[in-house]
Amino acid sequence: MWYAAAVNISYINSNFTKINRLGLMYHKNKKMSGIYIHVPYCKRKCNYCDFYSVASGSGKDKFANLIEKEIELRVNFLDNRTIETIYFGGGTPSMLPTDDIEKILRAIAKHFTVNPNSEITLEANPDDLSLEYLFALRKTGVNRLSIGVQSFCDSDLKQLDRRHDAAQAINAVNDAHKAGFSDISIDLIYGLPYSTNQIWEQNLTKAFALPITHLSCYHLIYEMGTPLDRKVKSGLVKPVDEDISVEQFELLQLYAQQFAFEHYEISNLSKKGHHSRHNTSYWKQIPYLGLGPSAHSYNGVTRCWNAKSIEQWGKSIENGLANPEAETLTETDKINEYFITSLRTIWGADLSYISSNFGKKVANTARKLSEKYAKEGIMAIDGNIIKIIPKHFFTSDGVIVDFLI
Ligand SMILES: C[S@@+](CC[C@H](N)C(=O)[O-])C[C@H]1O[C@@H](n2cnc3c(N)ncnc32)[C@H](O)[C@@H]1O
Ligand code: SF4
Repeated sequence: MWYAAAVNISYINSNFTKINRLGLMYHKNKKMSGIYIHVPYCKRKCNYCDFYSVASGSGKDKFANLIEKEIELRVNFLDNRTIETIYFGGGTPSMLPTDDIEKILRAIAKHFTVNPNSEITLEANPDDLSLEYLFALRKTGVNRLSIGVQSFCDSDLKQLDRRHDAAQAINAVNDAHKAGFSDISIDLIYGLPYSTNQIWEQNLTKAFALPITHLSCYHLIYEMGTPLDRKVKSGLVKPVDEDISVEQFELLQLYAQQFAFEHYEISNLSKKGHHSRHNTSYWKQIPYLGLGPSAHSYNGVTRCWNAKSIEQWGKSIENGLANPEAETLTETDKINEYFITSLRTIWGADLSYISSNFGKKVANTARKLSEKYAKEGIMAIDGNIIKIIPKHFFTSDGVIVDFLI
């Protein structure tokens, strides 16, 4: 482990900065930040996905060094250098050797104060997860896995151009548990054109039988320019009727309730206390530094994003220039972003926060709108907290848009 698992608990509870046996500093600080690392490699591209990645590993051996250098160049982006969450997303982070993951985590710990209770997540493809890799990964300090299963039905997986089958996905989750991961999330996609409610129910039954603590369920999006989108446009694939999508969403909620998973955000469900702290921090406006090509960053004032090109990003880092494109958020951007992110969650939006940060007028308008939606049974009002009832998450976009200015 790159940080000491044996950090004395009194260190964590103390208000004083302490130095552990590896010489890394921890201190209690209420204001936390997150770090996201975008790993832009895939063994091959899936036909529905438009996340930035290249289907080749060329240059992968230089990636960890470049991230180390980017950390040095951008260390001042975050006002608060106490890190509570680290997230390796992709692309396919599980294509990185564990030595590289450890190198990146060490570089973060050298420049930031990493809370010993940090959540450190790695997104993984099932076919990368041998037991040997999982045991080595556990030693790096990664303590949460997000495994891209998508479906437990082999014909779905073939249609999506996935490179694993259902048996590999089940083995990957069980092996991760064997290797000592107690926080395991899986991704599933519903509303697939090839799927049926019966297959979706089988997926849910298989998912909840596994040792998982978290489930991300995304409705399929036909991303422009993807091979799947082209198939839809040429009539080769017919999207499912919205009724089926709604039924699958309702089935998801039914199973989640049965297995005591809380539906805490439109696409995310977890056992109590196991929500994704990293993703939740995006919805709670907590600052984060995004490293790697196409990664976004936010520090409360500025939002910026790196070039969507490994070559361009790598060249600027090698030349000692970290120059992401940036925009300073206007007051309207901040208000809209607050509604868009907070109303997606069961924690909702806080009218007293809105009043003190954006003014009484904005808060009053939001209260009136929430009262109208509460009468229709779509929203709930609890003191100063207004929220969409999870049953209506599926159609929440239509509600949230009314709150935007
Ligand atoms: C960017 S991927 C990275 C994870 C990993 N590479 C994998 O595929 O297993 C994160 C998740 O986004 C979801 N995703 C990607 N494209 C999507 C789309 N077009 N519609 C719905 N979900 C999508 C998938 O569930 C995927 O697991
Ligand atoms: S879904 Fe995952 S493996 Fe497939 S192309 Fe996207 S990032 Fe790569």
